[in-house]
Amino acid sequence: MNAKVDRMTRIESLISEMTLSEKLGQLTMTACGYAVTGPTIAGDSTEAIKAGTIGSLLNLVGADHIRQMQDLAVAHSRLKIPLLIALDVIHGLRTIFPIPLAEAAMFDREGWERTAREAAHEAAADGIALTFAPMLDVARDPRWGRIAEGPGEDPWLASEIARAKVRGFQGAQLSDRDALAACAKHYCGYGAVTAGRDYASTDVSERTLQEVHLPAFRAALEAGVASVMPAFTDLAGIPMTANRALLRERLRGQYGFDGVIISDYNAIGELLRHGVAADLTEAATLALNAGVDIDMMSNAYRTGLPAALERGWVQIAQIDQAVHRVLTLKTRLGLFDDPYRRGSVPESVAALSERRRFARQIGARSVVMLQNVRATLPLPGSIQRLCVAGPLADAAAEMGGCWCPAARTDTHVSVLQGLRAALPEVAISHAPGVAINGDDRSQIEAALEQCERAEAIVLCLGEAASMSGEAASRSDLDLPGLQRGFAQAVFESASTHDIPVIVVLFSGRPLIVPWLFERADAVLAAWFLGTEAGNAIADLLTGAQSPSARSPVSWPRSMGQVPVFFAQRPSGRPASANDHYTSKYLDAPNEPLINFGHGLTYGQFRYSNLRVAPEAVRESDTLGIEVDLANVGSHEAEETVFLFAHDKLASVSRPLLELKGFRRIHLHPGQSGTVRLSMPASELCFPGVDLERVFEPGEVEILVGPSAERTRLLAQTIVLKT
Ligand code: NOJ
Repeated sequence: MNAKVDRMTRIESLISEMTLSEKLGQLTMTACGYAVTGPTIAGDSTEAIKAGTIGSLLNLVGADHIRQMQDLAVAHSRLKIPLLIALDVIHGLRTIFPIPLAEAAMFDREGWERTAREAAHEAAADGIALTFAPMLDVARDPRWGRIAEGPGEDPWLASEIARAKVRGFQGAQLSDRDALAACAKHYCGYGAVTAGRDYASTDVSERTLQEVHLPAFRAALEAGVASVMPAFTDLAGIPMTANRALLRERLRGQYGFDGVIISDYNAIGELLRHGVAADLTEAATLALNAGVDIDMMSNAYRTGLPAALERGWVQIAQIDQAVHRVLTLKTRLGLFDDPYRRGSVPESVAALSERRRFARQIGARSVVMLQNVRATLPLPGSIQRLCVAGPLADAAAEMGGCWCPAARTDTHVSVLQGLRAALPEVAISHAPGVAINGDDRSQIEAALEQCERAEAIVLCLGEAASMSGEAASRSDLDLPGLQRGFAQAVFESASTHDIPVIVVLFSGRPLIVPWLFERADAVLAAWFLGTEAGNAIADLLTGAQSPSARSPVSWPRSMGQVPVFFAQRPSGRPASANDHYTSKYLDAPNEPLINFGHGLTYGQFRYSNLRVAPEAVRESDTLGIEVDLANVGSHEAEETVFLFAHDKLASVSRPLLELKGFRRIHLHPGQSGTVRLSMPASELCFPGVDLERVFEPGEVEILVGPSAERTRLLAQTIVLKT
């Protein structure tokens, strides 16, 4: 307590010494670029750091460069306030882990936490102190390229990931030399952009905000996240950067967040384009009044707030409060005690190679086996000739996916490299066939000839890394370029020669490729797995590991189904083939092609004997759920068991399924086991008619099974009592 009081007094006395421009400097974050001679700062000069008018930098990597910039602040500025160095460490810095959507597929809290911890180690060794992660935007529209960066379609899953990631990045305490401050982004509703088009408008009901878009942020706050970034987008006409109701009143007032709110890149400046501010003075006023502390890249606070102060649009006390929060964060990060605590001890070679080994395991744990007809996989040990075909077969540079600007892509492992290392005795040929997104047909014939000579074909198809992530929305989610035609030709020729085709599909989102599932013998959703991609995929193809991941999103059959997600509410006219006036398409089923949670293993699991107790519960009770599983297949494997609830009768129509838990079990062939899950009954609360949280008496179905495919779930009804 005393240390805290002491800290506060020090910060207050520092603020009392600051000029207005030094205060606004603390509220300004600017980007570094690299000139031949070293880092250069966008729109400003290193002189500004010495003058104390820039307090944070983003996009700077390398311990030497970071130290050089930190020196300017610490040794040359009047008040010697250290810089806050921030970067998008989304799924690793140099050792790249799977993209967040892929990691979500692990359904593994320890795994989620550990990759963030490892990324924090690596980034902190460079001198970085804050990461713009985790991204917590629930997304149900795969056109949106940023679905790759987030947790997928489900709010409960997003909340679990939020907690694990904040713990992982921030470590035991922020002042540790290997801790990064995390930043929960993008608050809120960004995943609901109109038509999946990045940066487009959003309009989400208060109920959907509470049920879908806010829970993960609340979970991140509970886990102690140090900062939050508002979304670029507007929500029903109010840009989030200027959204006083959701930032100042809700995030700070109602949820009690006292960390730092950092604008997105140039988002304060973009208030002019949103049409809510006439100039930077108005924009800065709106953002500060809404509660934004740090202006990233708009230079709006430095240029606009002095005039806003003069006009009485903002008060100096508000600026002081924002500065206070920034200095508090810098203090918590230990920067005042030792600004060089991060970045002074390079990591050992042993630590880096151990991290790569871990990236390989995590990579394998993130691949979802979507299809495996006639047990095509794992590849038989007797195989002698394999063809690794397709434009992503030897595409090391693509393996990282979005957001890995500091990684050396030439150290990533391609599928071809991974398979050649794993199967040195096998003759492995390689035939790209077509480019990822080109129109050159000249290599197709040669590729087909190669394929014909193989005993199995590993066909690597999909998107380029740049086709998902920020500003990478797509309106057509089929394979780009000539890949579909090439794949059809491979299927055709393989079927005449009776050669199995295993498709390894790379993407930052679910693709819409029903034609491919009709022809492929096996399909692995490999997303983008990062540095160790090829080795991780080889581990699965060869059977060294069994696939265990599950899809954290539904895969549509057609674009017309979008958005398709499992937590839909019931219709008053549920689909019925016998009744015309029911909720359905004339030309397609309602169900997605692949359900949320789907994912095969090399084992085969039977579920039986669901037990839920007690059968009548109060809000303060905890439900115990047990189900028996048997591995009736011939390989050991890990099964993920999902727990869902369905409130059958309530004052508000409830989703047909709500995810409430998961647990994994590892079983050898012939082995049986019991999976035990528990769920606080309070998880069954929901925003009532008046949007206040309620626990309503009545019947609730508890469902357990391998995915959100309703017909595969075991169910038992319990009763809620007040
Ligand atoms: C814009 C993106 O929206 C955000 O997620 C990211 O953290 C910033 N740029 C900084 O790179």
